[in-house]
Amino acid sequence: MAVLRNLLLTVGAASAAVASSNDNLKSCLQYALTDSGSVAFPGDPFYQISDVKVYNLNIPITPAAVTFPTSSQQVAAIVKCAADNGYHVQAKSGGHSYGNYGLGGTDGAVVVDLKHLTQFSMDNTNWQATIGAGTLLGDVTRRLHDAGGRAMSHGTCPQVGSGGHFTIGGLGPTSRQFGAALDHILEVEVVLANSSVVRANKDQNQDILWAIKGAASGFGIVTEFKVRTEPEPGTAVKYEYSFKIGTTEQRGSLFKNWQAYMSNPNLTRKLASTLTLLQDSMIITGTFFGTQEEYDDLKIGSQFPGANGTAVVFEDWLGLVGDWAEEAALELGGGVASNFYSKSSSWTPQTLMSSETIDKMFEYIDLADKDTLLWFLLFDFQGGYTSDVSADTTSYAHRDVLFWLQSYSINLLGSVSQTQIDFLDQVNKICTPTDTPYAAYPGYVDPLMPNGAEAYWGSNLPRLQEIKAEIDPKNVFKNPQSPLPA
Ligand SMILES: Cc1cc2nc3c(=O)[nH]c(=O)nc-3n(C[C@H](O)[C@H](O)[C@H](O)COP(=O)(O)OP(=O)(O)OC[C@H]3O[C@@H](n4cnc5c(N)ncnc54)[C@H](O)[C@@H]3O)c2cc1C
Ligand SMILES: *[C@@H]1O[C@H](CO)[C@@H](O)[C@H](O)[C@H]1NC(C)=O
Ligand SMILES: *[C@@H]1O[C@H](CO)[C@@H](O)[C@H](O)[C@H]1NC(C)=O
Ligand SMILES: *[C@@H]1O[C@H](CO)[C@@H](O)[C@H](O)[C@H]1NC(C)=O
Repeated sequence: MAVLRNLLLTVGAASAAVASSNDNLKSCLQYALTDSGSVAFPGDPFYQISDVKVYNLNIPITPAAVTFPTSSQQVAAIVKCAADNGYHVQAKSGGHSYGNYGLGGTDGAVVVDLKHLTQFSMDNTNWQATIGAGTLLGDVTRRLHDAGGRAMSHGTCPQVGSGGHFTIGGLGPTSRQFGAALDHILEVEVVLANSSVVRANKDQNQDILWAIKGAASGFGIVTEFKVRTEPEPGTAVKYEYSFKIGTTEQRGSLFKNWQAYMSNPNLTRKLASTLTLLQDSMIITGTFFGTQEEYDDLKIGSQFPGANGTAVVFEDWLGLVGDWAEEAALELGGGVASNFYSKSSSWTPQTLMSSETIDKMFEYIDLADKDTLLWFLLFDFQGGYTSDVSADTTSYAHRDVLFWLQSYSINLLGSVSQTQIDFLDQVNKICTPTDTPYAAYPGYVDPLMPNGAEAYWGSNLPRLQEIKAEIDPKNVFKNPQSPLPA
């Protein structure tokens, strides 16, 4: 009890010291945002569960305020209130960061929730769409469909937000054909640290556009995107092969077949594929954007002897996207918050896992103490369009990646244990290429990873640091793993 009382006293003293800047922040925000419900503070009823509402329960955060602006001008006013009073700022779009909108809230940042910025329009002369940064992916799909049967690349979870997704990469089943979500971006409207609202495109503020396409959380708040769209893919085949049984050797050999088949440089870009490893099964899933006959010609089934396979043909795009969403919901619980830890790793065509490494990985996985049955490893096949673009075209750097690994360990009852973390660390250690710099996907935030900025942005980090020094020297848009000013 004495320990607890001392702790409370210390906290009390510390909060008295910041009380005056806190009061100034409060009155500034209340003056800028006069609509009811457009700003919430710690202590307000349901602050943590309805205003803060984190996705990863394993990372508790307490922002100094959560704001709900309705215009870019209000976003600018919020940034000014925060910066003038010495607070950091983080945007929140879909709130689906593994690190809870960038961990910006851990030290009491001001959160700018963009849920009201969902404007949409389509220019029918060039099929360029304007999308508010608070629009969730499910709504992006539907609005593009309704506006002339158009589509763009993005991930499969409908509750993810475009603000956080389009600016960090945005990989989905059509990315081998159309690029990452950020490859669709032609222009952004963005609020900068000095609270000015600017547009960035190929003719103006090119550096800002370059930084936004891969690293936005440390550079500004995008309020609106203008994107290239593509005609919706027509007929598609969704396939699934699952394996319930198998010795360590059989599982390793299946993985080797999959890696060999997918790494053929001549393989069609119409094929997407993911290999998922779970406690008691291995599943190969994906979509082929073509007809059943074309799919059968690929003879995928014969690559995986002994598998139970299904192939379902979809004629309508919304039906297919809906089916992906159901699958995404099964993986991480989709929109549902939980305690989890996640890591990522990657391979280029030059650094693929050797046969020995694959064997070692499966041996380790079969024997390791995982402390949960709820762990899984997703190996995503990439390359294609995303690899046509050179590494310095956007701040998103990992253009040469052919396979991504996302690994997860979940605890439904409480905090993730050290054993769970050690398991994912050790898998990464065994399978990650050692002769090239470690490349992690910036969209799968791993708050425990040392040197995050190097791993996320690789060779583009120095230029990002220079741009940061120019447009946000005081680190207003603080994200613990973002580039620091040069
Ligand atoms: C269930 C699930 C499925 C996923 N599937 C995929 C997938 O298939 N492919 C894939 O590539 N990724 C996937 N992801 C990862 C996802 O792309 C990232 O977590 C993404 O950053 C989430 O964006 P958000 O807007 O929902 O999150 P938020 O937590 O709101 O934001 C994430 C980060 O972006 C910043 N940010 C948000 N909005 C803006 C803005 N307007 N301007 C500037 N910065 C902003 C935030 O400050 C924060 O740092 C998935 C994640 C989950 C939870
Ligand atoms: C395929 O399915 C059948 C029936 O459901 C099952 O008995 C068999 O073990 C499965 N085979 C594999 C390789 O999973
Ligand atoms: C890819 O196609 C080229 C040209 O048709 C051919 O020479 C090459 O052998 C093929 N590579 C593989 C791995 O199939
Ligand atoms: C705000 O910062 C941008 C980027 O550095 C700069 O171009 C602009 O002139 C600044 N605006 C003001 C009002 O200082």
